[in-house]
Amino acid sequence: MFNSNELLSKRAQKNAGSFLRQIFPRTREPGVINFAGGLPNPDFFPIEPIIAATERAMRADGRNTLQYGMTEGLPELREWIAVRYEKQGLHIKPEQILITNGSQQGIDLIGRVFLDPGNKMAIEAPGYMSAIQSFAMYEPEFIGVGINEQGIDVEQLKYVLKNNSIKLIETCPSFQNPSGIAYSTSTREAMAKVCSQYNFVVVEDDPYAELRFMGAETKSLRNYLGDQVITLGSFSKIVAPGLRLGWTVASPDVTRRLVLAKQLVDIHTNYFAQRVLYQYLLDNAIDDHINQMRGVYRAQRNAMVDAMAQYFPPETQFTKPEGGMFVWVTLPDEADTMALFNMSMDTEKVAFVPGLPFFADGKSGKNMMRLSYSTANPETIEEGMKRLGRVISRYLDAPSKN
Ligand SMILES: Cc1ncc(COP(=O)(O)O)c(C=O)c1O
Repeated sequence: MFNSNELLSKRAQKNAGSFLRQIFPRTREPGVINFAGGLPNPDFFPIEPIIAATERAMRADGRNTLQYGMTEGLPELREWIAVRYEKQGLHIKPEQILITNGSQQGIDLIGRVFLDPGNKMAIEAPGYMSAIQSFAMYEPEFIGVGINEQGIDVEQLKYVLKNNSIKLIETCPSFQNPSGIAYSTSTREAMAKVCSQYNFVVVEDDPYAELRFMGAETKSLRNYLGDQVITLGSFSKIVAPGLRLGWTVASPDVTRRLVLAKQLVDIHTNYFAQRVLYQYLLDNAIDDHINQMRGVYRAQRNAMVDAMAQYFPPETQFTKPEGGMFVWVTLPDEADTMALFNMSMDTEKVAFVPGLPFFADGKSGKNMMRLSYSTANPETIEEGMKRLGRVISRYLDAPSKN
């Protein structure tokens, strides 16, 4: 009698699951060089320091470490984050910070608080796949805004805002997932000038901000737009994603709304993990740790873009990121990177993510793909690009025969 499928909400029926998880089994096949994942390099997970921090946190105050806590998060950790922003020239009170279960939860909470079905929201095209899927649960109408080498296409954004009643925009201004592009300072300024004319929320989804390894520093969108922005931060890319610790920065009013929503979702973010992380931050030099990561990611990025320049056919284009973990490749318009993915896996055993799921319209990006250089060493990256260059050349020579 029981048939759960008949009982599902419309929202749940629409949730097809992560595209990445669909291609995941293939990327695990033996001998595969995998550029599909967006995982931080596990060589940098501070295993021994986290063991030591766990012991210290438990011995210092085990009862509270294991007790329920405040929805807003561990006060000391919120203070630590506020002080770090202060050092970057951004004045934020700890009360404006909510500790979330990864920045992914921040995206969901924003959807809960701001979106009704049918509301219009803008999103980068291409944009962060899991933000598209997460916001989709609140049934907005998505409107894509293009990206160029300088960041979001401000002229397009201007047009979209003028002609639509937009409730919020999801942006990833620093080393965007999936393109690796960072908004330049002039793009940030121009964007702020446009956005400040309309009453809507700007989401600055910023987990890669600290991973700049070359080029000029930029400032958070909050510097330009203040409380119109909700910034999402994360410890996933600078410490470890398994901790599931991120945060939101917003006005006190918006923070209160996010806190109310979070209370109903999970009461609070794992207190044990917050106390351990806080202890880790007290006992270790996080800036040295981040600097080491930057050096390694820079070498891996260089290996990837240099090898692309050498081995990819001339009609391919690719981004040259100054930070973060991703390179975005564009093939000629008629190419289909899903077909290329299968061919690449079958013949050369190289995995990447086809471009389609990074576009909210469900049809753009077929000739594009995302590659991550975060977990492979430079030699493996070079070998992978050599193989991928071969398969792209073969595919472009005779796409229909493959
Ligand atoms: C743009 C962007 N936002 C948010 C997240 C979620 O990160 P977390 O929930 O681990 O903080 C990711 C993870 O890859 C991301 O790329």
